[in-house]
Amino acid sequence: TTLTVNASDASGKPIPETLFGIFFEEINHAGAGGLWAELVSNRGFEAGGPNTPSNIDPWSIIGNESLINIETDRTSCFDRNKVALRLEVLCDSKGDNICPADGVGVYNPGFWGMNIEQGKKYKVVFYVRSTESLNLTVSLTGSNGVGNLASSVITGSALDFSNWTKVEKILVAKATDHNSRLQLTTTTKGVIWLDQVSAMPLDTYKGHGFRTDLVEMLTALKPRFIRFPGGCFVEGEWLRNAFRWKASVGPWEERPGHFGDVWMYWTDDGLGYYEFLQLAEDLGTAPIWVFNNGVSHNDQVDTSAVLPLVQEALDGLEFARGDRTSKWGSLRAAMGHPAPFDLRYVAVGNEDCGKKNYRGNYLKFYSAIKSAYPDIQIISNCDGSSRPLDHPADMYDYHVYTNANDMFSRANAFDHTSRNGPKAFVSEYAVTGKDAGTGSLLAALAEAGFLIGLEKNSDVIQMASYAPLFVNANDRRWNPDAIVFNSFQLYGTPSYWVQVFFSESSGATLLSTSLQAPSSNSLVASAITFQNSVDKKNYIRIKVVNFGTTAVNLKISLDGLEPNSLQLSGSTKTVLTSANVMDENSFSQPKKVVPIQSLLQNVGKDMNVTVPPRSFTSFDLVKQ
Ligand code: AHR
Repeated sequence: TTLTVNASDASGKPIPETLFGIFFEEINHAGAGGLWAELVSNRGFEAGGPNTPSNIDPWSIIGNESLINIETDRTSCFDRNKVALRLEVLCDSKGDNICPADGVGVYNPGFWGMNIEQGKKYKVVFYVRSTESLNLTVSLTGSNGVGNLASSVITGSALDFSNWTKVEKILVAKATDHNSRLQLTTTTKGVIWLDQVSAMPLDTYKGHGFRTDLVEMLTALKPRFIRFPGGCFVEGEWLRNAFRWKASVGPWEERPGHFGDVWMYWTDDGLGYYEFLQLAEDLGTAPIWVFNNGVSHNDQVDTSAVLPLVQEALDGLEFARGDRTSKWGSLRAAMGHPAPFDLRYVAVGNEDCGKKNYRGNYLKFYSAIKSAYPDIQIISNCDGSSRPLDHPADMYDYHVYTNANDMFSRANAFDHTSRNGPKAFVSEYAVTGKDAGTGSLLAALAEAGFLIGLEKNSDVIQMASYAPLFVNANDRRWNPDAIVFNSFQLYGTPSYWVQVFFSESSGATLLSTSLQAPSSNSLVASAITFQNSVDKKNYIRIKVVNFGTTAVNLKISLDGLEPNSLQLSGSTKTVLTSANVMDENSFSQPKKVVPIQSLLQNVGKDMNVTVPPRSFTSFDLVKQ
């Protein structure tokens, strides 16, 4: 089998700067209890919605009913989230109903345990009111309340706390426990109200509230865009539960939070529209905002009544891009970002093309946005890969979830797409079902083949991203996912590692390749040239997927190169494979299926290599 690469730069074609990026959806507790480093779940006791009694889960009471009663009421100082927690403490440090030595109160276990690490600092903030003098202990303890990792006592007279008072404490952990909880306890009789209880590690990515270890998995992909915040999360089962950007901005204490009824969990919306834009900026990547266009899974706004939603989207654009004197731009500035965010892409809805009001609504959004922001690129939900769209768009969405064979065969999916018209945004792709399990090598190899096809068709593909990006292993709403984590551990699935092979492709030059094989359908390949941003050297990267079950002896012929223009030193081979094609990574074996790099023994115009069965290989050749 021979792979011929036309290696002369002049014959290459530019790959879009934006080709490979990421899609972040609030699914699987990807954000709340994941990328967003807030440790307290349901910090405003609001998970039941605005009515009381509210759902305070996962908060629990410390002490029995002869010692303490708790209930929710609507006395909070925050207008958009009125629910507060009322604790009626019946015991005291003296008298005939003595409190236990450790006190009574409430605790929050976070999202399946808080990761508290020795020597690290945690900022605890909460709002409190009290009928009597206050003596409240704030502590980080083991999962059963035993063991004091860090604590602080807040005291004051009844007068000091007769109105809602903000308390802020930095706790320094004396030990490590990955499954800790936050407790608020007292041994003083009286009534105490609590609201908006937060605990955040001080050490977050660029100080902006993101879990550093998870962000570092993203930076390794060198993403050129981030699509957010969903997915179905944007649509909702019902419109009333869709993500609404205005409810997610402003001071965190004032955000109402909402129940995401597709993935069935409450979010405090600490990770809101502003934070997504900040994340994009911190990653040095282009934000792509997906907004609800009046269509959910089960209800829709008529096109005749959609203008308020159009205005909501325009306001969102003003929030991101308006100057600091504009109404919404001034809120952004007040939140800490006076300069506009570089928002240049929006997607109107998610997977809504077939729905009754989609086209009508879409056109209202399209014309309003284009007239206010002519440079903004607008993405339609309707697939234009096989026939032209019947409406204007700068890009169209293409989603594919399928089995491994079908995904691999889609290496050719865009070969016959019209070269005119809007380009594709493959904003969600993944092998799912039994071929994928919770992240198999088989799924990843099929995706590698598909991505090679996208790279080769990048004259009609503008962007591509895998989905979903993250899963908290304690709440798997969707399998598989690229990055698996819990409170303190994480690993990439083979699908994640496949994406790393493409991290140099955006903005690179695509070289033409041809494969001569007896039966070429189990092998696909592509080649690019790029300059490495670290060592500043120029490389040729040849990627080969062997989807078949036998090793292939491959002759790689590099045409059009000057003699001796390759350098052995630094030239490498990187292989992703495993003993069994259904192998997966796990917390206990996070590196079972990861790329292994080795130095090449020789490089030249003609190279004979062996490509293992069921593998993905990249040959990185240094140019002199
Ligand atoms: O990626 C998971 C879901 O798949 C997304 O929310 C949705 O867009 C698609 O159906």
